[in-house]
Amino acid sequence: MLTVLVTGCNGQLGMELRRLSNDSRCAFCRFLFVDVDVLDICNRPEVHNYMKMNKVDVVVNAAAYTAVDKAETEPGLAFAVNRDGVAVLADCCVENHAFLIHVSTDYVFDGTADMPYKEHDQVNPIGVYGKSKRAGEEEMMAKGVYGMIIRTAWLYSGYGNNFVKTMLRLGSEREQVMVVADQHGTPTWAADLAGAIIEIIVQTDFSKRQGVEVYHYTDEGECTWFEFASSIMRLAGKSCRVLPISTSEYPSSCQRPAYSVLDKTKIKNTFRIDIPQWEDSLRKMLEEIL
Ligand SMILES: NC(=O)c1ccc[n+]([C@@H]2O[C@H](COP(=O)([O-])OP(=O)(O)OC[C@H]3O[C@@H](n4cnc5c(N)ncnc54)[C@H](OP(=O)(O)O)[C@@H]3O)[C@@H](O)[C@H]2O)c1
Repeated sequence: MLTVLVTGCNGQLGMELRRLSNDSRCAFCRFLFVDVDVLDICNRPEVHNYMKMNKVDVVVNAAAYTAVDKAETEPGLAFAVNRDGVAVLADCCVENHAFLIHVSTDYVFDGTADMPYKEHDQVNPIGVYGKSKRAGEEEMMAKGVYGMIIRTAWLYSGYGNNFVKTMLRLGSEREQVMVVADQHGTPTWAADLAGAIIEIIVQTDFSKRQGVEVYHYTDEGECTWFEFASSIMRLAGKSCRVLPISTSEYPSSCQRPAYSVLDKTKIKNTFRIDIPQWEDSLRKMLEEIL
């Protein structure tokens, strides 16, 4: 039996991992799902004791501070969870001989590229959230833990708050919404990312992996927030008009990368993962929740 601890289990990714953990392919895994009320990833003694007592083999860190705008005024909190919490997990994984699967973000890049970012492209986060997530990556790499960092982007799910849910609400309340049309990325259904993580767990011989490998995972394709919003309204049958605006016209406390499409060649080649197109996944997700 492989004991897999999932932190931040009440978040979007955590909930989707819970749903998939019943899959018959995971029959060899014993999953332990915890969120901050049971296990605060910043609490070193608690994390260490919990992992030791439960003989944890693999940690999937789905816990994070994810409020991108709020992070600008709460840098202390963002760094406490996204940097220091990851450092605690990495140390405890080393002490308990466990493997760490950590999730990071496209916002570690500055968005000045014009082609999909590869894993080893230069990082240069431009907001507090991205900086705190990059600091977490650096902590993990410095600790000598065995593990992987999976960078993802624009997550949405039927659980929690996200762009899709906001658009659905606004689509019912308003006749029109204005959405930025000059930031490019890839919407990613958290269920698809969870499926990829399960696939990685199924395929990986955890006794053989060494060091920290970085992978990129998003759904396939790319679009702007404006195109994403337009698809949401159309697929959900909302008559609300979506109007394109530029980033400079949208009041935001945080600067976001203009282009953060991720290259997924490495994860596809390594784990033979079949990745769905973002709009197909959006359709499936909407069918589930509407
Ligand atoms: N959401 C996106 O668009 C996006 C994009 C790129 C990358 N990512 C990354 O993908 C991962 C999953 O994101 P998500 O959208 O699923 O996040 P999420 O929905 O915000 O869930 C994060 C979970 O972690 C919990 N948490 C916060 N602080 C904690 C702590 N100290 N100890 C334990 N748990 C704690 C949160 O609890 P509370 O709600 O009570 O705080 C929440 O349940 C994160 O690493 C995120 O940075 C997300």
